[in-house]
Amino acid sequence: MKNVKSEKRKAGGLKIGKARIGDIKKIHTILSAYATEGTVLPRSLSELYDQLRDLFVSIDPADGAIAGTCAMHICWDRIAEIRSLAVVADCQRAGIGTGLVNACIQEARQLEVEQIFVLTYAAKFFKKFGFRKVDKAVLPHKVWSDCMKCVKFPDCDEEALLLDLTRNKQT
Ligand SMILES: CC(C)(COP(=O)(O)OP(=O)(O)OC[C@H]1O[C@@H](n2cnc3c(N)ncnc32)[C@H](O)[C@@H]1OP(=O)(O)O)[C@@H](O)C(=O)NCCC(=O)NCCS
Repeated sequence: MKNVKSEKRKAGGLKIGKARIGDIKKIHTILSAYATEGTVLPRSLSELYDQLRDLFVSIDPADGAIAGTCAMHICWDRIAEIRSLAVVADCQRAGIGTGLVNACIQEARQLEVEQIFVLTYAAKFFKKFGFRKVDKAVLPHKVWSDCMKCVKFPDCDEEALLLDLTRNKQT
């Protein structure tokens, strides 16, 4: 069942856009809540400031509250990663996560990215966009330096999913 706050946020019309410097501390708080359970990697404030241009946020124009965040990080030649996707608990299941991922995919297309991957426990969520399960071995090696920051490393049971933008022109 969708909760009341989700309906309010949805009805109020959330705006998805690029994050700004003033959003970073709130993004850090949102990600930290999920990092402790291992569903997203922890990100320090320093990393988030470094990666500001990767980040999207979903904001309620009524009060400026940030309901969710997601990053599209260029990783290697024509390949990018979706990471740091998180929607605050009482705003979930209102389409915010979907909107954030669509914004990342749109920007990736504009930048001529051909493949986007994600490491996730929410495979069902990502399959809606056309992501398909792949062997982790096909991902760029530099991904694994980030994985060492995870509370679950080295016992990772996340799935690797890939979206081929050259085959999914209309996604
Ligand atoms: C995954 C997440 C971002 C989805 O955000 P959201 O705003 O609730 O997503 P939407 O409302 O756009 O879509 C909801 C749908 O996504 C799917 N979904 C949501 N969370 C899911 C999860 N953890 N696993 C699998 N599917 C999920 C469901 O099918 C749901 O549909 P339903 O409402 O009909 O059941 C959110 O649940 C979250 O922040 N989870 C904790 C952090 C996390 O797991 N991040 C992903 C890291 S890759």
